Amino acid sequence: MPDLDDHVTHVDHPLVQHKLTIMRDKNTPTAVFRQLLREISQLLAYEVTRGLPMTTKRIETPMQQMDAPTLDGKKLALISILRAGNGLMDGVLELIPSARVGFVGLYRDEETLQPVQYYFKVPEGLDDRLVIAVDPMLATGNSSVAAIDLLKKAGATNIRFLCLLAAPEGIARMKEAHPDVPIVTASIDDSLNELGYIIPGLGDAGDRMFGTK
Ligand code: URA
Repeated sequence: MPDLDDHVTHVDHPLVQHKLTIMRDKNTPTAVFRQLLREISQLLAYEVTRGLPMTTKRIETPMQQMDAPTLDGKKLALISILRAGNGLMDGVLELIPSARVGFVGLYRDEETLQPVQYYFKVPEGLDDRLVIAVDPMLATGNSSVAAIDLLKKAGATNIRFLCLLAAPEGIARMKEAHPDVPIVTASIDDSLNELGYIIPGLGDAGDRMFGTK
């Protein structure tokens, strides 16, 4: 598996791939979809947090004293790109409960097709934190690039991007705009259709997750 120095890490783990197949199936009910997303996001969190800075602290086991490894630095910031990002964030937060949390809301302008910001609330001190932006679907990359633009404007300098599915087009767009932001994904799919949906994909992640249409 490539490490985070390469731009994209594809988490090709049997458990991740098995769960993802069930999520892709159009007959999978909302509740199961949501539960699987939570489970996969925890497995992906393991990968996206690889290489976090560590230090040691002196503790006493029942046997003796030792200098034991512990995370170093400020709490990391998890940023959900609304609305589908919330599904991915929930599982990651269970694994890293002390993370600070932020939200970026973007919608697509029907005429220009460009992302427009409607909400932005992020933790203070982004410049000192590892920032993990989460959005299940890296499709055209337009909203992801815009969200990362906003995070950088707010001071973030150390950002990673976590998604469930990535289209080659979205990866290329992100790499061009933000070559310093590594991507972790459970799958690199084939392509995008003319409406910007990932193929084969899983449909609209927000609708699948929240039971909307
Ligand atoms: N957003 C989705 O929810 N699904 C896609 O296939 C592409 C973008």
